[in-house]
Amino acid sequence: MRIDIITPEIYERGGFPDEAFRRLRREAPVHWHEDPDEGSPGFWAVTKYDDVVHVSRHPELFSSYARTSMFEEFTDEDIALYRLMMLFMDPPQHTRQRSYVNKGFTPRMIKQLEEHIRDVSHQLIDDVVERGEACFVRDISAPFPLYVICELIGAPVEDRGRIFDWSNALIGFDDPDYATSAEHARDVSAQILAYAHDLAAYRREHPGDDIATKLLQPDADGRVLGADEFAMFILLLIMAGNETTRNGASGGMLAFFEHPDQWRRLRANRALLRTTADEIVRWVSPVNLFRRTAMSDTELRGQPIKAGDKVVVFYPSANRDEDVFADPYTFDIGRDPNPHIGFGGGGPHYCLGTHLARLELTVLFEVLLERMPDIGQAGEARRLRSNFINGIKELPVRFTPSG
Ligand code: HEM
Repeated sequence: MRIDIITPEIYERGGFPDEAFRRLRREAPVHWHEDPDEGSPGFWAVTKYDDVVHVSRHPELFSSYARTSMFEEFTDEDIALYRLMMLFMDPPQHTRQRSYVNKGFTPRMIKQLEEHIRDVSHQLIDDVVERGEACFVRDISAPFPLYVICELIGAPVEDRGRIFDWSNALIGFDDPDYATSAEHARDVSAQILAYAHDLAAYRREHPGDDIATKLLQPDADGRVLGADEFAMFILLLIMAGNETTRNGASGGMLAFFEHPDQWRRLRANRALLRTTADEIVRWVSPVNLFRRTAMSDTELRGQPIKAGDKVVVFYPSANRDEDVFADPYTFDIGRDPNPHIGFGGGGPHYCLGTHLARLELTVLFEVLLERMPDIGQAGEARRLRSNFINGIKELPVRFTPSG
């Protein structure tokens, strides 16, 4: 079966390849994907919900250790450093680092950010509201999580611009608009790491009420993160916390434009904000895929998998699985329960930013409802050329100017 689910251009043209995922779920849920024309070295494409959960929850069978981008291995140059990033660790090394950084992401810590998140939402809307038109991505959804992350890590306001450019360069890898290359991405990573080392030095001298300061202090067992571990964690936050939420917000806005009844429903009943963010994450699935590597011969849905094989899980497909979701193709902001796995399949790498992302999306849409209740689409959305992030680069909007 020849099905294309990885060429970045197809994502740019039409979003994630829904028809292909549907067919895979039905006909070949654990599918060996290999296409020399695409330069793909071959991997198992996992598209059913239960299988994505199984892979995510069994790191002893499906390791994160060998993974870098989805289809390549680490270069010798990268390896020493990337080994220090939590995303590429397995238990017990991962468990240790995760339990250490968890202290910065408790619901209490995140709740403290709520006012800041609300202020940022208002501030971004203040900047455009008199114009009556804006680019939702450039003016609102892109700066929004960036400002929040900067606050979270205690980065000074004047550093926002370069952190923004860095984050684009890392995630917009396949997209010519962000003009990146492997060398450029490596260079940007190096700049972020140097920045994180400076930030650590600054926050040691000037402790604040931020996660960087917290992570630089010893935990109850007297353990501290090493300087490189700290820097890799900041790099991970910048990568993981920006594009995901940005595209959750942009994709959510577009979903409302495509389903105006749901926007009217939310306007009429704000209590639905409680379930809206999760339905947006299910519907948009901002993270398209993650890769694991089989640690030993195993099987998945009866399909033998050999040790060393690459295994790629596709979240948007799992989030439309007909065996799990009633009416999976209906955007229903009141969906409850909503066991989507847009934040991961529930294993050790389950998204550290879940509470934060939910809060960000909830507050942003709450403020949009209040300030721009008649927001509408004013032009075509342009999508990101990427098979990793289901992203939107441009989304022209109009609204009644107030001022
Ligand atoms: C991991 C999605 C927002 C930080 C992940 C994973 C997914 C994901 C799918 C991988 C899970 C796995 O491998 O099982 C999302 C989505 C978001 C979002 C859809 C927004 C809508 C955030 C935010 C932050 C964040 C705001 C931080 C500020 C992380 C980190 C990891 C992660 C640090 C790695 C965790 C680990 O390796 O243990 N996220 N994320 N994410 N996310 Fe998020």
